[in-house]
Amino acid sequence: MSLFVPINVDSFWMPRASSTIAKQVDDGYYLVYWVSLALFVLVVGGMTYFSVKYRRRSDRDKTSDIDHSTKLEIGWSVIPLLIVIGLFVVGLKGYLRGQVAPSESYEINVTGKKWLWTFTYPQGFTTTGEMAVPAGRPTKLVISAEDVLHSFFIPEFRVKQDAVPGQYTTLWFQSDQPGEYALLCTEYCGTSHSDMIGKVLVLEDTKFQEWIEGEGDPGGSAKPPAEQGERKYKSAGCNTCHSLDGTKIQGPSFKGLWGRVEKTSAGEVTVDENYVRESILNPGAKIVDGYPNVMPTFQGVLKDKDIDNLIAYIKTLK
Ligand code: CUA
Repeated sequence: MSLFVPINVDSFWMPRASSTIAKQVDDGYYLVYWVSLALFVLVVGGMTYFSVKYRRRSDRDKTSDIDHSTKLEIGWSVIPLLIVIGLFVVGLKGYLRGQVAPSESYEINVTGKKWLWTFTYPQGFTTTGEMAVPAGRPTKLVISAEDVLHSFFIPEFRVKQDAVPGQYTTLWFQSDQPGEYALLCTEYCGTSHSDMIGKVLVLEDTKFQEWIEGEGDPGGSAKPPAEQGERKYKSAGCNTCHSLDGTKIQGPSFKGLWGRVEKTSAGEVTVDENYVRESILNPGAKIVDGYPNVMPTFQGVLKDKDIDNLIAYIKTLK
């Protein structure tokens, strides 16, 4: 499982329109686009035509003594005013529709932090990086951030909302097309901003129920711990900072990590179960020399079972 989801594109400008509001957003966009293009042609075309037609040809050319035209002035004030009012009405309608979530919406809490998204469901469980929503039914997100500004963006749904520390913002959408959709952070939030990606799964009724019952991993608890750990490694965003091939990113690579003796801010440490657990829950306790103290705590995000699975996975990375 990878969190990377390509954005489907089926026109030159836009990602595929995959939510119920997407077409309305695009229509507004194209309206502004064509009006601007028409005005551009009119203004620049007129300017070019007049500057050629009435260019000064000899010293005897006289400047016209017409200094204004009331009809023209009213025309070029009133017509743009009407256009702008029209654009405002189109924008307002779309804005209001996008702002007010239908009362029957399925509600999910979203939290952004450096550099992952977590989703808390009404049933009380939390997933990281991956959010499933029911197809054919509106979903309302209540969004917040733990550290800095982030922005929650699903391009194919045409929805985007800031995630603000200490404040809740909301967003809603409905998609009738089951599938996988890319989720991006679109507010620069630090080193790994561009890796703050996720996956939105639009699932049909029974699939969605299974997903909820499996707390985000249907049938997953039957898999070997190391496999479940591998899944967590990606969905919890460990992969953002810890490589599998020895490459140094923000944190030490997991390759060959198990049993290694590390020089840390609290002296030499052998990487074992207790060190990995401590590093997940209290990352600042023993920082490996040469690395910044930037890892967020996963207290409350990862359960004991998740940590067991991650340990099992790290043990396999020789
Ligand atoms: Cu979070 Cu950019």
